[in-house]
Amino acid sequence: MRTTALLAAGAISVASAGRITRSDFHREDIIYKDVAIIGGGASGAHAAVRLTQDYGKSVVVVEREPILGGHVDTYIDKTTGNIHDYGIALYFPYEDSFDFFSRPDINVTLSPWVPAGGNEIRYVDFTSGQELTSAFQSPDGAAGPIAIKKFHDLMTANGWDNMTQPGYWGLPAGKDIPEDLLLPIGEFAKKHGIEAMLSSMYPSTGGGVGSRGNFEDILTLSIIKAFPTAWSKVFFGEVSMFKVDGGNQVLYDKISTILGKDVLYNSQVVDSQRSNSGIELVVDSARLDNRKDGLSKSMRRKPNRKREDKPTKKLIIAKKLLLAIPPTRENLAPFDLLAPNSPLFSLGSSGTNYTDFPPSEAKEVARKAIQKMVEVGTLPDLEGEEVEFVAWSDHGPGGFGVSAQELREGWMEDMYALQGKRSTWFTGNGIAADFTTMLWKFNDVLLDKIVEGL
Ligand SMILES: Cc1cc2nc3c(=O)[nH]c(=O)nc-3n(C[C@H](O)[C@H](O)[C@H](O)COP(=O)(O)OP(=O)(O)OC[C@H]3O[C@@H](n4cnc5c(N)ncnc54)[C@H](O)[C@@H]3O)c2cc1C
Ligand SMILES: *[C@@H]1O[C@H](CO)[C@@H](O)[C@H](O)[C@H]1NC(C)=O
Ligand SMILES: *[C@@H]1O[C@H](CO)[C@@H](O)[C@H](O)[C@H]1NC(C)=O
Ligand SMILES: *[C@@H]1O[C@H](CO)[C@@H](O)[C@H](O)[C@H]1NC(C)=O
Repeated sequence: MRTTALLAAGAISVASAGRITRSDFHREDIIYKDVAIIGGGASGAHAAVRLTQDYGKSVVVVEREPILGGHVDTYIDKTTGNIHDYGIALYFPYEDSFDFFSRPDINVTLSPWVPAGGNEIRYVDFTSGQELTSAFQSPDGAAGPIAIKKFHDLMTANGWDNMTQPGYWGLPAGKDIPEDLLLPIGEFAKKHGIEAMLSSMYPSTGGGVGSRGNFEDILTLSIIKAFPTAWSKVFFGEVSMFKVDGGNQVLYDKISTILGKDVLYNSQVVDSQRSNSGIELVVDSARLDNRKDGLSKSMRRKPNRKREDKPTKKLIIAKKLLLAIPPTRENLAPFDLLAPNSPLFSLGSSGTNYTDFPPSEAKEVARKAIQKMVEVGTLPDLEGEEVEFVAWSDHGPGGFGVSAQELREGWMEDMYALQGKRSTWFTGNGIAADFTTMLWKFNDVLLDKIVEGL
């Protein structure tokens, strides 16, 4: 008897731990929708537009910041009006993804992208501060684009492009993943006689998709996520790069207008309950709708809450959940998603220390480089002025840090098998090629699956 009573008590306490009680919420704080989308960056904002405008579904977007757009950072110089897109800089066409810019409800115009500072590029050695002489040449020289074209042809001829972009729907089972894709990129390049591609790839992958260690030791499959075949075409002129007129933030301001009150800004999920028939989320949300400062994202990093702007808890009741945030341990915690130490978490864990110095030191590193350049005369004298960072953004981790062995054992299959479990779906650069237009195409495949049965 005693044992039974104890077991019953245990069961009750477990059940109530995750229970969300609807009567705890005012009626105006309960939101009923088809799909709850977490994150309003490239993937979440795009999915929200498509689900509401094209599929006729209702959505709510939960966004941590007071503005949509994720890695987009547009800074407009107050005196000159010059636009600096210092986050996401440019877009390249991938399949029909550019239709999104020109659809009637979005209708933003694009212009050819030119590097920041126009065509006046100066190469400086940051350690000495000295400008390199005009004799400087990229280590690849003309051989770079030729090697990248060979890389492209190799990827398409073997069907490796379709296995790795826009997501990994087409990647074979672990034991059947092509050997080449699990070679370190340095060995891959050597095997195919295309070492000259490496120094062009390096900067464009953020020095190796946020991983630590030697670039050439990183798995080819990981590099391809940040350097997919579609992107390689830019390097030999098969596709061009574009920017949004007025700054890349303009696109997301349009989306913000389309979605209106369906976005909860300054908001985060604090509790959740998920089953095969639907999901419930408790969201901590600023009461004032203070979205879109419309200027720089420098404000974005400090949520705009005013003192009287007390957070309020809202309850979202939805049929499906779409996670469009990086699947880091911290981000996934409120979703009671997986057992601790599940391999999915290795995605984010490579990001705690994602460059050669911790993010907290990044500004100091930049400041020292600038001071050095001033000292040796590469940059003009600051005449007593301090270096000021008018806008700054921490883009967090990128890439996934898994080994060839884990991939062989089916890591990717396990990860993709999570799609749809307990009404929950994943999108975004955590699990697909890391370019906006490719993420939109990944969404197009995913959204068809999500709306089945809605
Ligand atoms: C510096 C940089 C430059 C880049 N440049 C380009 C480029 O020029 N061209 C290109 O195509 N791609 C570029 N990329 C790739 C870029 O990552 C992807 O294009 C895209 O931003 C990824 O979209 P996403 O929706 O997966 O994530 P994100 O854009 O990061 O969106 C995630 C959103 O979720 C929000 N969020 C995060 N955590 C939570 C939470 N717990 N709760 C609620 N909300 C949350 C964030 O505020 C953000 O708005 C660049 C990336 C970086 C980092
Ligand atoms: C799109 O914007 C342009 C101006 O940039 C305007 O001339 C055109 O009428 C707009 N189209 C639609 C469908 O709104
Ligand atoms: C790869 O994908 C492209 C575009 O989706 C398609 O046209 C092509 O037939 C595919 N190739 C193979 C080998 O599946
Ligand atoms: C991050 O890197 C620094 C410098 O290499 C090191 O001292 C620190 O222990 C690392 N932190 C983590 C969490 O790995």
